[in-house]
Amino acid sequence: MSTMENANPGRTDTAGMTAQYPEMAGKVAVVTGAAQGMGAVFAAGLATRGVSVVAADINEEQVVATAERLTAELADGDRAVRPGRIVGMRADVTAPGDHEELAQRALREFGRIDFWVNNAGIFPFALVDDISPEQIGSTLRVNVEGVLYGAQAAARHMEPGGAIVNMSSVSALRVRKGRGAYCTSKAAVAHMTESLAVELGDKGIRVNSIAPGYIDTAMTRWVQEDPAALAHALEVVPLHRLGSPEEVFGPLLFLLSDSARYITGHSIAVDGGSRHV
Ligand code: NAI
Repeated sequence: MSTMENANPGRTDTAGMTAQYPEMAGKVAVVTGAAQGMGAVFAAGLATRGVSVVAADINEEQVVATAERLTAELADGDRAVRPGRIVGMRADVTAPGDHEELAQRALREFGRIDFWVNNAGIFPFALVDDISPEQIGSTLRVNVEGVLYGAQAAARHMEPGGAIVNMSSVSALRVRKGRGAYCTSKAAVAHMTESLAVELGDKGIRVNSIAPGYIDTAMTRWVQEDPAALAHALEVVPLHRLGSPEEVFGPLLFLLSDSARYITGHSIAVDGGSRHV
């Protein structure tokens, strides 16, 4: 298993492990929460397949550096598909205007929007007795409102046939002590995905979600750093290991691709089976 020495700053080596979907080349994506972790891997993997990406994060310095590094890595070497470009940009997903600016940047740089990945999220710990109004408020603003405002901007500007993917969680289905606000927020994302799918179907836009289990990013560092929590995770997850961001990227790619063109309002669990235990 990986030791998580860093926050998964994004890798460009997703080519071998997932399908290629050649129809995606030339398309354009917005990915939020893309400075690190899954968002950075998603941006890299999409660009490898010829998709240009606006990579957004509240951490401007990190997302700009990540976008520059990934673009440079992709330019280096022979590739079957001409890689897309990745531009990094600050956006706070709790601000509707920031989503509009992301859309305008995508249109200005790349001329169209085909995919929108509402990936940014926060994972606070607070027991019910202690949780503060600020903690519950910020969790719902980032994890729930952030998804809704992203979908609104996507729906205003996206090409017909476009696809939105929202990051839900196994926590939408299973509760954990101290994660009440987070679990509530992710259950809301799962439900909102269905509502959005029903409404945006009129515009030919599909909306699906992914529900990851334990994935090796900064968000799960607490598991890796607590031997008891790690032992428990490895024991209860039916596949007995944590997942990698690249293993979430494959299902994301499928949901965005034409192979999923009759799938909307669905959630794919990418959790090694942990939703069942
Ligand atoms: P991460 O913590 O490595 O990355 C999250 C990114 O979101 C960070 O770069 C952060 O700066 C950004 N962000 C936070 N607040 C923001 C805001 N207001 N506006 C814009 N960006 C903001 O997390 P990871 O693991 O890559 O998670 C990605 C998504 O997957 C999140 O929605 C998370 O809840 C979800 N998820 C993660 C799981 C895991 O095991 N890592 C499991 C289930 C769901």
